[in-house]
Amino acid sequence: MPETVLLERDGRVAIVTVNRPDKLNALSQQVRDDMLEVLAEIEKDDSIGAVVITGAGEKSFIAGADIGEFAGRSPLDQRDAMRSPRIFDAMATFPKPVIAMINGFCLGGGCELAASCDIRIASDKARFGQPEIKLGLIPGGGGTQRLPRLIGSGQAMRLILSGEMIDATEAQRIGLVEMIFPADELRAKTHELAAKIASFSPLTLRIAKESIRNSEKLPIEEGLAYERDLFCLCFSTEDKKEGVAAFLEKRPAAWTGR
Ligand code: COA
Repeated sequence: MPETVLLERDGRVAIVTVNRPDKLNALSQQVRDDMLEVLAEIEKDDSIGAVVITGAGEKSFIAGADIGEFAGRSPLDQRDAMRSPRIFDAMATFPKPVIAMINGFCLGGGCELAASCDIRIASDKARFGQPEIKLGLIPGGGGTQRLPRLIGSGQAMRLILSGEMIDATEAQRIGLVEMIFPADELRAKTHELAAKIASFSPLTLRIAKESIRNSEKLPIEEGLAYERDLFCLCFSTEDKKEGVAAFLEKRPAAWTGR
């Protein structure tokens, strides 16, 4: 079991915690490697239906890349450190729903990781930013690509060019987070949503995610055709037969994931 990334299970929900609270959960190479190991384990575990990613301690979700590791690195060292698979891509293409539970500082690579997740839920104490500009850097984990798709190019420009931090209310206003809760309710409320999502058919969740993710890539006509094809594909699943039958028979559905 990796030390810098913890994995707990609560029913069908997996809680993945970046565990370097003394460094505000900064993303060291070890954290990245451990995160990939934990994600691989979750991916093959059929008993897990949804994933929550968070940071240890009360102060920080993830305060970005580990800046200490940047010192003295050549461009080739850095390229090697950024080799595939990368956690941001692993998160963005993960087949199960992933919720970022943002409990504090959500900066740099932390903000990029959150932007790679499917849903972002923040504590009212969370703070967000892309402060790389202050280090003479630009974001390198999708901040110039995924962030503009999520919040629009103007707001991404504002965050990346100014390096300014914003609070949770402002983050919600610009669409960087979907929900905010008081810090002491964050875990329970996030779990409630994750458990609800995890209670549905894993197969249908996967198809829904794939269709939404493709909306970022496809022109509207192709996207609508792709959605129609996936919708029709659902008619081949046992879970569609079960879901429709359960509704008509006024009983809860028993999903099999087939
Ligand atoms: N990389 C490495 N270490 C980090 C870090 C990061 N991204 N963010 C915080 N830390 C470390 C600090 O160096 C400090 O370690 P120390 O106790 O050994 O000195 C510890 O975490 C606590 O941070 P500290 O700065 O003392 O907390 P603070 O409350 O005064 O400030 C922040 C909090 C988030 C404003 C500040 O830590 C910060 O600006 N961090 C860097 C954020 C950043 O630029 N991220 C993008 C990186 S590309």
